[in-house]
Amino acid sequence: MSLTTIILAAGKSTRMLSLKSKILFKISGLPIIEHVYNTSKKLSNDIVCVLSNPPKELTSFVKEKKIKSAMQSNPSGTADAVKSGLKKVGVKKNNKILILCGDVPFISSKTLGAMIKKLETCDLCLGTYHQNNPTGYGRVIRDGKKIIKIVEEKDATEKQRKITEINTGVICIKEPILRKYIYMIKNNNNQKEFYLTDLISLLSDNNHNVSSFSIKDELETMGINSKKDLVSLERKLLVRKATDLLEKGVLIRDVQRTDIKGNLKVQKDVDIDINCIFEDEVSIGSSSTIGHNCYLNRCKIGKNVHIKPNTIIFGATIGDNCIVGPYARIRPGAVLKNNSQVGNFVEVKNSIIGTGTKINHLSYIGDAILGSNINVGAGCITCNYDGEKKHKTKIESNSFIGSGTRLVAPVTVAKGSYIAAGSTVTKDTPGDGSLTIARSKQVSIPKWKNKTIKGKK
Ligand code: UD1
Ligand code: CA
Repeated sequence: MSLTTIILAAGKSTRMLSLKSKILFKISGLPIIEHVYNTSKKLSNDIVCVLSNPPKELTSFVKEKKIKSAMQSNPSGTADAVKSGLKKVGVKKNNKILILCGDVPFISSKTLGAMIKKLETCDLCLGTYHQNNPTGYGRVIRDGKKIIKIVEEKDATEKQRKITEINTGVICIKEPILRKYIYMIKNNNNQKEFYLTDLISLLSDNNHNVSSFSIKDELETMGINSKKDLVSLERKLLVRKATDLLEKGVLIRDVQRTDIKGNLKVQKDVDIDINCIFEDEVSIGSSSTIGHNCYLNRCKIGKNVHIKPNTIIFGATIGDNCIVGPYARIRPGAVLKNNSQVGNFVEVKNSIIGTGTKINHLSYIGDAILGSNINVGAGCITCNYDGEKKHKTKIESNSFIGSGTRLVAPVTVAKGSYIAAGSTVTKDTPGDGSLTIARSKQVSIPKWKNKTIKGKK
């Protein structure tokens, strides 16, 4: 049996109180819609996303992911959205349709797989959850075990509002049944909308077998209607991710103040201080320590590394036994080989820092290759940009770069060079124990003050 997924994403996002579509807000590092898409993709390649007046970012997202899009010209409810979506689905007798809400980001493919399987023995399977605080969700009304309808919060009586079994918005249904009943739904409710949830009573009244799948994990079921929903769901997820790692032996000093937004892989005895953010793929080798307030995105940290507080590492690789920071900025394409050190207020971009090399204070190293055991003094700069192009700086092993040196690229500092402090190096140096001085000679003018400043003796 084939499967088509329809993602409903054409709502007006009124409750978000924003100029932006709610599904474009990031949660755990990715736009809400991207989470839903990533999960759908695990089940079927046939995905239709229902949109209405999509902003540019949404149009390019759909294009980039090659998702079919259906336009709902005048959003008037979830059933109306499904009708728009169906227009993009070729009629198939044995097809199953999975309907997802674009604003429920963490539904898992495991849950959806189980629901799709359940559809073999029923005509519609509804994802439900027992929510202690069900405010805002549609309530599942049963007669004994049998589901008879869903009542939306706004249409519910006081008694119905007390029901804690809620509709998560996930529906899996046989395509012919959906096509038969979706057009019968009316909008005679408090919001004057065509509710997809009315499908349940229609099927139930016509003796179809409606079953439910009870989802156990609250986070999978939470929908985002407001910014309050967004931050509360994100916090819950992040605390859970941090707690999972803590339980696996990672010393996370405060699970409330550790944001693992991507995929963090950690070896034994890693120690993570407060307020660190991890995005995308990050791996940390054993016995490494991450100080407070660090931001790590798409990077690989070796073993026994000490990342000191307030350091930013993005798109870089840090070898074993390195010391980085505090306040270092390691940018894309930077590779720090084993035992190297990059200290405070040092920026490294697209450069290789060799084994045992030290750049400890206030420097910029860009588009450079540094060999091993080099000492770069305080305040050194690779002048890599001439206003048009970027140029390479090469510093060979065992060199010593005095403080305040400017290396005007393209330039090579040969093996074993010494550069005097304050030099502006524009030519290659001979290396081999030589000292290069490239600065104007110091002169002192005697009695200068008496001659030049009148009236003062
Ligand atoms: C909906 C369900 C509710 C359920 C909840 C779960 C209905 C009527 N209600 O309520 O039972 O508990 O989800 O999160 O289905 N959308 C469109 N076009 C529209 C209207 C909505 O595409 O005309 C999309 C929205 O972008 C959203 C999804 O459908 O992604 C759900 O719509 P929303 O307005 O958020 O419904 P809820 O009030 O949350
Ligand atoms: Ca919603």
